[in-house]
Amino acid sequence: MSVKDKVLSFLLDAETVSGGRMAKELGVSRNSIWKAVANLKREGYLIESAQSSGYRLIKIDSLSEQMIRARLKSKTLGRKIEIHHSLPSTNTYAKQLALRDGEDGTVIIAESQTAGRGRRGRSFFSPTSGIYMSILLRPEFSAETAGLVTSCAAVATAKAIERLCDCEIGIKWVNDLLANGKKLCGILCEGASDLESGCMEYMIIGIGINVGATEFPPELCDIATTLENICGKKISRNELIAEILNSLEEEIASIESGAFIEESRRRSVVIGKDVTVISGGNSYPASAIDIDDKGHLLIEKDGKIIPLFSGEVSIRV
Ligand code: BTN
Repeated sequence: MSVKDKVLSFLLDAETVSGGRMAKELGVSRNSIWKAVANLKREGYLIESAQSSGYRLIKIDSLSEQMIRARLKSKTLGRKIEIHHSLPSTNTYAKQLALRDGEDGTVIIAESQTAGRGRRGRSFFSPTSGIYMSILLRPEFSAETAGLVTSCAAVATAKAIERLCDCEIGIKWVNDLLANGKKLCGILCEGASDLESGCMEYMIIGIGINVGATEFPPELCDIATTLENICGKKISRNELIAEILNSLEEEIASIESGAFIEESRRRSVVIGKDVTVISGGNSYPASAIDIDDKGHLLIEKDGKIIPLFSGEVSIRV
């Protein structure tokens, strides 16, 4: 990390920080700190300086690769980051990249999407002020393990959100994150496998989070919420993106141990509830019993316990 990036980290972490303290902790001269701050200002950061207290970063939250990097601890995820003003869909873009020579760990982020995609062919409401990102993976694990990625990503994202925001995140099997019973985030994983090796050629993890939207279309008003609404404060999207990438890399590294499944059970908002299952073109009532060690939702239907591999459930009120 350059002195400039380290200074940015200090400014992100503290309300105000003196040049002397940064110089001492980084083992550089005050003049280097001054130069780093000047460079940051030239790049567009708004930094106030007061002789008595030191420097203060005015946190305006436009998406910034540098702000993301200042918090990023992951090794592979985020090696390359592309930030776009607007894209039809970051997942579609990442897929096109995967079919060319897109690298493992590349992250595509957009300020807004004009054709954001959800599961089951639905659209995903994607105005500015949200997080829309897709992560391209070239994993070594089997297609079977790939089936666990949505669940693993849901756990990683829930943990990251809780680390930064004071709230409790539940998971509605398999891809929805909820707070106070309303949807906050959706996850769409897509990929292609190599039939010969049985391994994945690529995977795309698409994550969409409602962060600061002030209005939803009528059909979403009662079922969706935003992070800022839940937490009652401004959320830095850059910090949250970095935290999600850190968390995701950690969870994916141990995906084969299945350790995340216990966490997904703990956070489940459907276990023990009467649900409506939508699967393979059918819709029927059932009870959600548990999540098994392979990440399948166990439902009880007509006295029989059935594992659900895919599909969707909604809680019956
Ligand atoms: C769902 O709720 O059904 C899943 C929504 C996934 C939305 C994200 S936003 C980033 C990525 N790009 C897309 O077009 N979709 C995913």
